[in-house]
Amino acid sequence: MKGIRSIEVYYHDLLVGEIFDGINETLFHYNADFLRTKIDLSPLSMVKRESPYLFDDPDFSLVAPLFSDSLPDGYGSVVMNRWFERENGPLYRPTAIDKLTYVGETGLGALIYRPGQSYPVEKLQQFDLREQERLASSNIAQTAEEWIHRLRRAARTAGGRFPKALLAIDWATGLFYEDHPSVGLEKERWVLKFGSLSEQRKSLNNYPNIEYAYHQMAKASGIRVPEARLIPSTHSSEVISHFASRRFDLKCGKRIHLATLSALTGITPGSENLTYRNLFEVAHQLSGSLQEVKEVFRRMVFNVLSCNADDHGKNHSFLFDGRKWELSPAYDLTFSDEGGLNHLPQHSMSIAGVIKNISAKNLLQEGTLAGLTNVQCKVLYEEVAEPLSRSRDYLHAAHLPEKTVEWVARKIDFAMKESHFSH
Ligand SMILES: Nc1ncnc2c1ncn2[C@@H]1O[C@H](COP(=O)(O)OP(=O)(O)OP(=O)(O)O)[C@@H](O)[C@H]1O
Ligand SMILES: [Mg+2]
Repeated sequence: MKGIRSIEVYYHDLLVGEIFDGINETLFHYNADFLRTKIDLSPLSMVKRESPYLFDDPDFSLVAPLFSDSLPDGYGSVVMNRWFERENGPLYRPTAIDKLTYVGETGLGALIYRPGQSYPVEKLQQFDLREQERLASSNIAQTAEEWIHRLRRAARTAGGRFPKALLAIDWATGLFYEDHPSVGLEKERWVLKFGSLSEQRKSLNNYPNIEYAYHQMAKASGIRVPEARLIPSTHSSEVISHFASRRFDLKCGKRIHLATLSALTGITPGSENLTYRNLFEVAHQLSGSLQEVKEVFRRMVFNVLSCNADDHGKNHSFLFDGRKWELSPAYDLTFSDEGGLNHLPQHSMSIAGVIKNISAKNLLQEGTLAGLTNVQCKVLYEEVAEPLSRSRDYLHAAHLPEKTVEWVARKIDFAMKESHFSH
């Protein structure tokens, strides 16, 4: 793959356009036939036009934000870089095109990059969860060479900081498989986020269990979430859990286009320029539906009341099924463990200009600006607050130790007190 200078982007069988490598930049131009279709994959930040686009922002890996969504980040990019070193020598630094070639057909969502790298089908095998989680938690720099391709295949290109794998699961037999087109569609596709052994955890990070409790609370508060399960595995004396959620970018085996808020706005995930206002606007513009505005309001309130401050631009996404846009189910909802008991975390996107100690007034201001009435905001707020006021029940049900339950629940209680809606 070394030295490839351009790559084609496909949406299903449609050629979307071509990306060319430059020095510290890439060029993208839409295919003339694609310009004539009604399909728009990034209607706000990459309007369809004949003239080429130039991308040189390192925060988006020098490619269009939409394509940078396809690239792994955090854990997956460490695996990817190790792979390139193994293939091309220790000093090799992959170009933007190399990285997209690595993604090939294996990314989340519906975009495909050609030529891509093919997987040797004969090596496809059942997925050994214990072996894989051991690898995922090992120091990658010290991982034996022969494991790199295995890690690569499991990590694939799912984004996010933490170790995860894309799997095909046969619930009838309880067997897991590496995800691959040759694994039949009767096996469901899931994303699995690995838990870690207690000795590897730095703080209270029993995060798969916490994420599961949060998932359940979000569901109870009316937020759309994917199907999720906690998957236990036993290591000598300890049982650890992994958080698994069913892939929402696949429907009956068909890939659905997925784009993050960051990609759609062209604003980097950690930037202070990206706010809940943008999320409301994009949801409304793309879907044209008040239901989606209400869904954003629920998610915003949930994140504030539950101390989920990791609400950056890659933790909000949209799905496009070829006809209409909608918010993807909510994901990566979890507790931000920051500061003492009476300290609330700093959110990644501001709400009415505020990122910390968000008040009911701030929430109301944002909601009404988005077109909701005071009464609608209050009703939605109450629906979200109800399960969160019973957070201890959910945290216990996720098998968390008492100390963790109390710590998380007290912080939620405090956050709810701080942004309480008066009647
Ligand atoms: N059920 C799902 N179906 C499809 N894609 C998913 C699903 N869950 C997560 N993803 C995708 O995988 C990416 C990583 O997941 P997630 O955000 O949960 O991981 P993370 O490592 O905790 O991320 P972060 O770096 O934000 O902490 C998400 O940005 C999203 O695009
Ligand atoms: Mg995330």
